Amino acid sequence: MSPKLLKILNENYQVVKNDGEDVIKGLSKNLKSLPPKYFYDDRGSELFEQISELPEYYPTRIETSILEQYADEIAQITGSSELVELGSGSSTKTRLLLDAYQKIDNSFTYIPTDVSGGILKTSVLDLQEKYPGFTIEGLLGTYQQTLAYLESTPTQSRTICFLGSSAGNFYPQEFDNFLTQITRSLQPENYLLLGIDLNKPKEILEAAYNDNHGITAAFNLNMLSHLNWRFQGNFDLNLFNHQAIYNQAETQIEMYLYCQDNVTFYLEILDLKVNFQPGESILTEISRKFDLGILPTKLEAKGLKVRKVWTDPKKWFGLILCQA
Ligand code: AVJ
Repeated sequence: MSPKLLKILNENYQVVKNDGEDVIKGLSKNLKSLPPKYFYDDRGSELFEQISELPEYYPTRIETSILEQYADEIAQITGSSELVELGSGSSTKTRLLLDAYQKIDNSFTYIPTDVSGGILKTSVLDLQEKYPGFTIEGLLGTYQQTLAYLESTPTQSRTICFLGSSAGNFYPQEFDNFLTQITRSLQPENYLLLGIDLNKPKEILEAAYNDNHGITAAFNLNMLSHLNWRFQGNFDLNLFNHQAIYNQAETQIEMYLYCQDNVTFYLEILDLKVNFQPGESILTEISRKFDLGILPTKLEAKGLKVRKVWTDPKKWFGLILCQA
């Protein structure tokens, strides 16, 4: 793959040297946790693709239906010649936006970005074929690395899209910092398109994250196999159970891995021993559910003017278009 199609953002020595520090920090706490970015090795990205097709998992389907209806309008309002996507995965939904932009202007740049190299490479090659007039440039790196890169390459006509409610993975303070970084990556009048999952009854939410086919369980457990290969660990996946619960007070889904045994694991590359009591858990993800009455105010306070909000008839999912 040519360097023009894929840029690796984590060549920086500091970043590589610090790889896994967040794992050490999370697993050394009293209440153990791990950053959700570790879901996404090649296998994890594949499992997420399967999740998005589950009958219980409504977010992808509903966001797609909103995009089917409004992609043309989004392309027209923004009129951008560059679209950057954070956490692009397979870029499946984004093709609806790419089709809409293609109708307006064939000299368009799409920059998919992800931490998962396998799915990023495959989709960049696929998109290059499907949109031969477009410039496609994949960026392999974390949100932070990507946003730092974007800040150093400003353009007059940029839209950043952040779909699928991945913004729900941030704690409020992290979300605040993230939005600050976003505004630094945007020039005045550039756009942010944000897909967010909305609050709804507990039964629907818990079903979406504890599916009957066990795909979400496999996705959650896969984080431990990712850590095993990445940091030479010996987590025994058979000793852990998946469970997602809805925390009503915080309006967030919490994904846990419960350990059944009194056992110690070791991550050689990090020189980290991790001891578990029976029933002890690791929190692998929060997925916050938002309120369309509150979030726009928050965005405005960050200097992101809300231009338009779209939702589905049941108001289960929202798309917010903001302008810097
Ligand atoms: C990709 C972060 C939006 O929170 O719904 C799906 C990930 N976790 N099932 C979500 C996920 C369990 C997903 N995001």
